[in-house]
Amino acid sequence: MVTIKLFLLFVTSDIIVQALQCPQSAYGQASAMIASNIVRNQGAAASSSGTGLIELGIFYQAVASAIPLSTNATAAVGLPLDRFSIGTEMMYQYAETGDEALASAISASQDSLAAQPRNDNGGLWYYDNRNNITAYRNLSYTDGMYSYPSFAILNSAANRMQKQLDILSAICDDGTGLWVHGYDALGEHAWANAETGASPSVWGRSLAWYTLGVLNAIETLQSLSSSSSMTLESKIVRSDISLLFINLINAQLVALERGLQINGKYSVWQVVDLPGASINVSKNFVETSASLMTAYSLLRPVRLDIIHNTQLRDRARKAAVGLWENVFETQVNRGGNGTLNLGGTSSIASLSGQSIDAKYYFDRPTVDNSLIGTSAFVLASLELEKLCG
Ligand SMILES: *[C@@H]1O[C@H](CO)[C@@H](O)[C@H](O)[C@H]1NC(C)=O
Ligand SMILES: *[C@@H]1O[C@H](CO)[C@@H](O)[C@H](O)[C@H]1NC(C)=O
Ligand SMILES: *[C@@H]1O[C@H](CO)[C@@H](O)[C@H](O)[C@H]1NC(C)=O
Ligand SMILES: *[C@@H]1O[C@H](CO)[C@@H](O)[C@H](O)[C@H]1NC(C)=O
Ligand SMILES: *[C@@H]1O[C@H](CO)[C@@H](O)[C@H](O)[C@H]1NC(C)=O
Repeated sequence: MVTIKLFLLFVTSDIIVQALQCPQSAYGQASAMIASNIVRNQGAAASSSGTGLIELGIFYQAVASAIPLSTNATAAVGLPLDRFSIGTEMMYQYAETGDEALASAISASQDSLAAQPRNDNGGLWYYDNRNNITAYRNLSYTDGMYSYPSFAILNSAANRMQKQLDILSAICDDGTGLWVHGYDALGEHAWANAETGASPSVWGRSLAWYTLGVLNAIETLQSLSSSSSMTLESKIVRSDISLLFINLINAQLVALERGLQINGKYSVWQVVDLPGASINVSKNFVETSASLMTAYSLLRPVRLDIIHNTQLRDRARKAAVGLWENVFETQVNRGGNGTLNLGGTSSIASLSGQSIDAKYYFDRPTVDNSLIGTSAFVLASLELEKLCG
């Protein structure tokens, strides 16, 4: 009986992979993009832009995911030699975890988290910008949940982490399971919903940051599950946020399938809930970084068995492959010197201004080779390589 079940499992996954027509073009793209980032001198330090730290955060996640590839000397031979510089750098980082310098940096982060201002509801401010306090005070962004959850979990604050997710969920869910960019607890910004303070639009990248943060949090909790630090409380948190994650994925799949009717492709639109829309001359567009982050957030939980429902898994896989292929066909090209270039990543969108609406997001310029986009490309490509075997 057991043998038959196992056999069926093999046959099923084999059929799925064949039906997907795995894009063979995915192989080697992740390491080529990391090498290209190195050529472009990106990722060594936070850039001075407002998004410098979050860029660096996702780049480190991408690099850490890529390293196991290079530990197989046979497989690594086919990759550029540049892989060694980044691999070595990361190995130093791991080896140095006992280092005083790192320990004090971690302790400084813990202290700064404790000092982060909060709203009356307990929600963390996204940015305590002392240079422009009226523009930023009491704003909470869904973006903030990319970096915070795993850090909180590792600092034994899983329940406090869940509270942050819940506050944002209560305020930012637009009623369809998609989340708007953030809220203003003071309601001082012209865009703030009179009752809740919520911002008006579902920005693709903020939703993607949030989703990725929840996925990382589930993995961080799972990594503790074999150790004694997994308390009953943490188990309950894990089961709650797994449910939250499935709901998030579900709503995004509905949006992706709706978009498919418009341009025949799986795409994450800059404003997720208005695919194909325009407002006067401003047009919604398919956004690269959110498409790739979403592809990753759909593929990885399939592989790690976080999505249990078979139908949902199939939809997630199909949409993720479609997202990656669409970006690869329309936004990736090879530069004259062999570097991989990636277009179509939205510039930063902020809630600090007064007039934030769908048109504001449509009008954000796109940039080439943004570290956010290229890192998401690395993450999604690696998952695709693993899916296709
Ligand atoms: C290493 O990579 C080679 C070539 O892709 C493969 O044949 C081999 O099974 C891999 N070894 C391990 C331990 O994963
Ligand atoms: C805004 O944040 C400050 C600083 O944490 C807090 O004292 C205040 O109560 C907050 N206001 C609201 C409405 O959340
Ligand atoms: C569209 O353009 C018209 C004419 O310039 C203007 O009156 C209107 O406010 C614009 N609509 C939006 C939503 O910006
Ligand atoms: C290679 O091309 C990219 C742009 O395509 C550029 O940013 C980079 O500086 C070039 N590198 C070299 C070594 O010429
Ligand atoms: C404060 O932020 C607002 C909204 O982003 C911006 O318009 C304004 O120029 C900023 N002021 C300063 C002093 O940086």
